Amino acid sequence: MSLVLVTGGAGFIGSHTVDLLLEKGYEVRIIDSLQPRVHPRGKPTYVPADIEFIQGDVANRADMERALRGVDYVFHMAAYQDYLPDFSTFIHTNTESTALIFELAVSDPDRFPLRKLVVASSQSVSGEGKYSCDAEGTVFHPDPRPPDQLQRGEWDIQCPTCGSTATPLLIDEATCSNPGTTYGVSKYALELLAFNLGRRYGIETAAMRYTYVQGPRNSFYNAYSGIARRFALRIRAGLPPVCYEDGLQRRDYVNVRDVARANLIALENPLSNGLALNVGGGRAVTVLEFAGMMLDASGSNLEPMVPGEYRLGDTRHTVSDLTRMRSLGWEPRTPVEDNVRQYLEWLDTQVGTDEYLLEAERVMKEMGVVRKADRLARP
Ligand SMILES: NC(=O)c1ccc[n+]([C@@H]2O[C@H](COP(=O)([O-])OP(=O)(O)OC[C@H]3O[C@@H](n4cnc5c(N)ncnc54)[C@H](O)[C@@H]3O)[C@@H](O)[C@H]2O)c1
Ligand SMILES: [Zn+2]
Repeated sequence: MSLVLVTGGAGFIGSHTVDLLLEKGYEVRIIDSLQPRVHPRGKPTYVPADIEFIQGDVANRADMERALRGVDYVFHMAAYQDYLPDFSTFIHTNTESTALIFELAVSDPDRFPLRKLVVASSQSVSGEGKYSCDAEGTVFHPDPRPPDQLQRGEWDIQCPTCGSTATPLLIDEATCSNPGTTYGVSKYALELLAFNLGRRYGIETAAMRYTYVQGPRNSFYNAYSGIARRFALRIRAGLPPVCYEDGLQRRDYVNVRDVARANLIALENPLSNGLALNVGGGRAVTVLEFAGMMLDASGSNLEPMVPGEYRLGDTRHTVSDLTRMRSLGWEPRTPVEDNVRQYLEWLDTQVGTDEYLLEAERVMKEMGVVRKADRLARP
């Protein structure tokens, strides 16, 4: 039987991947630091009691020597993910840990017989994505929107040569220039490391570029504002959900169980070898539409608010092209409305959530992440 290590296996995507691996008969080991912001109450009860669990740091050599011994396959899901300006932590936890996995596997193949590494990457490696200028018939990959443009409340991507409003295109895997955040850079760098070192040392790799993953077990304790958490907690507190920019940003939200299925396909199907793979929901939903779904599912008659706030580093329209994963036989199955319902059910099983909302928003504003534009968005 193959032994699979899941780093970050106590987390959201990692734990659903663990469940599916066990269902399919794999032997599973977890390494997870139980990062206090994600797991303020310690090891979650959904982590199976009868599998090996190492509490350790993926960027620590001694911890990873323990975790990787005898392992055939690794899902590298542990990561530092936040909106806060502690830049070096992203590179240390996300990128260095990937290099360390190869370092160990290459140094002692008998102790560390790694055959394939599937890494959690992110749609954020694609930055602002891919656009066309209809006036000029050109396709381009925009830079992050300049802070002064956002401060003026001009949200749309403009053509860099003629200045007209550009049209968003689906983001394919070739779209990987210009990640707009340190998190995105850490993920792009770990992809490059994995592909290069994997090719050189005969270790197969695949990099999963998830969009916005939703569903049960999504931790709501850190300041990284998952939209589902922010909206749900505000609605529970009797407050309207606040949409950043003009609320017309398009996203494709994907369910965590669909993501776990994609992970297993990437592990088992050799056609994934050496590839980045987009994993998204396949349906463009605006932030305002998403707020509406949350309000409907909560039975609330509040209206979403659009006060003209924005966050530096946010992207405008990001919808992934799923052609590549579809060619491997994968399709997202869960409608966004079900993500919302599942998330609210999960939230109801949690206690003590309300106090975290105001605290998280206070921290974000304090760190200069959420800003208010000089004027409201154009109608
Ligand atoms: N959730 C999303 O929408 C999304 C989108 C794109 C990419 N991703 C990526 O998918 C992966 C899983 O994300 P998630 O949503 O399940 O996050 P999560 O926070 O729920 O899970 C991550 C787990 O990693 C653990 N961890 C953090 N730092 C660690 C360290 N130094 N050593 C060991 N364990 C550590 C945490 O304790 C946690 O259990 C991450 O790599 C993330 O960057 C997630
Ligand atoms: Zn143009």
